[in-house]
Amino acid sequence: MRLVIAILAAGEGKRMKSGDFPKALHSIANISLLEHVFKAVSPLALDPIFIVCGHGKTGLYSQLTSLKNICWIEQPEQLGTADAVKHVLPYLSNQDRLLILYVDTPLIQTETLKNLIQYTPEDSIGWLTAVVKNPGNLGRIVRDSANNPLKIVEAKDASAEQRTINEINTGICLIPVKYLKQWLPELTNNNKQGEHYLTDLFEKAIQNKIKIITSSVENPDEILGANDHAELAKLERIFQKNQIDLYLKAGLKVIDPARLDIRGKLVFGINCTIDINVVLEGDIQLGKNCYIGPNVILRNTRLGENTRVEANSIIEDSSVGDGCIIGPFARLRPENQLASNIKIGNFVEIKKSTIGEGTKINHLSYIGDAELGEKINIGAGMITCNYDGANKYRTIIEDGVFVGSCVQLVAPIKIGENATIGAGSTLTQDAPPNKLTLARNKQITIEHWERPKKRAKKGE
Ligand code: UD1
Ligand code: CA
Repeated sequence: MRLVIAILAAGEGKRMKSGDFPKALHSIANISLLEHVFKAVSPLALDPIFIVCGHGKTGLYSQLTSLKNICWIEQPEQLGTADAVKHVLPYLSNQDRLLILYVDTPLIQTETLKNLIQYTPEDSIGWLTAVVKNPGNLGRIVRDSANNPLKIVEAKDASAEQRTINEINTGICLIPVKYLKQWLPELTNNNKQGEHYLTDLFEKAIQNKIKIITSSVENPDEILGANDHAELAKLERIFQKNQIDLYLKAGLKVIDPARLDIRGKLVFGINCTIDINVVLEGDIQLGKNCYIGPNVILRNTRLGENTRVEANSIIEDSSVGDGCIIGPFARLRPENQLASNIKIGNFVEIKKSTIGEGTKINHLSYIGDAELGEKINIGAGMITCNYDGANKYRTIIEDGVFVGSCVQLVAPIKIGENATIGAGSTLTQDAPPNKLTLARNKQITIEHWERPKKRAKKGE
């Protein structure tokens, strides 16, 4: 039998209260719920995966263009989970069996799905259940006195007694298509929500004496739903904890695992330490012996060996070499290439610049669209004036230059090798190598000058 997979993602997600923004696009660790489910199930897929969409579908089409080997199926009206599956049936044959997943159960693991498939004989129905402490709004698995499954009752339709059952429906099931074709048209929407429930198939199977193999998921965290923001936030914490546990096992030193968020992929060398309240996004590479200080954000960043990013610094889309010290309070905006042994101090902003080995920019500077050579010393408060309000221009500072404090370099401009620029200068022309260049008014002192005195008030 061919295995076909469908992910139901058409629902409005009312409890998210996010208007046109579909639930499937809400994210955990910056990855949409739909991509999480897709990632878990795609290793099992030989054929394109059907994704049933409806509410907010244009957002899904435009934002998830990277998903390969999928087939979007539109459910025009969200009449319930059974109706959603009905729209997939025209593409399936009686020789197929369909694995159904819900988009709002994003922590499901491939291994769990594999087991469900493995332990369900081809002609039977496999249904994944879970035993949970707080069954809340989840569908309850009702069993007879001999413990045989009878039906699934939605929480809203359940009696007080049924609500005490803590074995629940995960929503994930594996059903031969021939049964779906036979039974789906027979289902009614005679329930509290007026919806066509997929869960009613359970009772249909029992009536028709088709075997249902229920298997209980080992780790109930895997099947927690993301129906509202409280649940979504809870899933984010579980996801973060699980992945950070893996990094810890692999040798990463994390001062407080609860205060590190990784929203992407981290590759690290030996003996790296991550301090508290750090956010890592996109592709992050750390060489060995790196230290990431408190409150640091790194996005698509590569650090060489023995480099420190001190507290409260942000680095985006940049590469930093070995032995550098960045921050505290430094900001590297996108497209910087920093060589080794560089020091970037507090309140320094750098954008689209290359910086050579051993250069120091220790305090209060803006370096934009610049090319800095090696062993340069940039004084406090140097600014590259790279923008004239219409266009951006480049600044070139050659090796060994010393720039005094509070210098403005109006680009395009080039400062020659080993030049010295006097503090407080505003340069609009190139400075030659090996010389002192200054552009400032001569200092004068006014003799016999007196400070103004306070005028006497009336009546004094
Ligand atoms: C559903 C199950 C419940 C189970 C729970 C597990 C039903 C009737 N109930 O409840 O037994 O315990 O999931 O998390 O199946 N969807 C569509 N089209 C629709 C309606 C829903 O595609 O017309 C999709 C939604 O996008 C969602 C999934 O189906 O991904 C489940 O729908 P939802 O409304 O969240 O069902 P629950 O009330 O959570
Ligand atoms: Ca749900």
